[in-house]
Amino acid sequence: MEWGTYPGLGPGAEVLGRSLRGRHVLELGCGQGQNAAHLAYRHRAQVTAVDLVDLQIQHARDRFGEIPGLTLLTSDAMRFLQHTAIVFDIVYSVFGAVGLVDPRLLLAAIARRLKRHGLLGFSVPHPGRPGMRSPGGRQPRHGTIRLPDGSSRPVARWELSAADWRRALAQTDMRVVTVRELGHPDRRHPTALLVIARRN
Ligand SMILES: C[S@@+](CC[C@H](N)C(=O)[O-])C[C@H]1O[C@@H](n2cnc3c(N)ncnc32)[C@H](O)[C@@H]1O
Repeated sequence: MEWGTYPGLGPGAEVLGRSLRGRHVLELGCGQGQNAAHLAYRHRAQVTAVDLVDLQIQHARDRFGEIPGLTLLTSDAMRFLQHTAIVFDIVYSVFGAVGLVDPRLLLAAIARRLKRHGLLGFSVPHPGRPGMRSPGGRQPRHGTIRLPDGSSRPVARWELSAADWRRALAQTDMRVVTVRELGHPDRRHPTALLVIARRN
């Protein structure tokens, strides 16, 4: 499992907890599903992975559709959270819906579908990565994401600082356990923030 922008450097699935076997896990914005497949296949978790873009889910199903314990669904993250009856042990996002949906709405919706003391883990592009002037704060920045067919899609990005993520989580009955800066040991600037929080 990869959280950052440099594959193979870690951390991996261990940040989600020691044993994931049988845990109900939700990924928001799974893309082509490689992390969700890893958690279902290697760790025997019961994983639901959603992505807004049907093409992503089609690719994920082509590659990983046969893995037991893995459910891949085309859905907007907010819509899924508002309609599912499942209460999850773990919710996570790797450069996925967390950061691409208004955090005031999304974090509250996640907290409602997370077990008591359940874990939320997410990585987002570092707000201070090279080329960024300053954290974006409450207003989203506009950008694009690349899709598997080579096309790109416009997105809004909420680029919060670590302190602002702490504040946003505290407003939704969750508390931050750790915030880590991820990057490359040979490069000066971190490229991602990895936030681990728990529901109270
Ligand atoms: C940068 S990609 C990351 C994909 C994957 N997590 C990975 O690490 O390869 C962001 C993904 O989030 C999805 N996404 C964006 N907004 C979303 C939303 N509101 N609900 C669900 N998925 C969303 C996009 O379709 C895209 O597949």
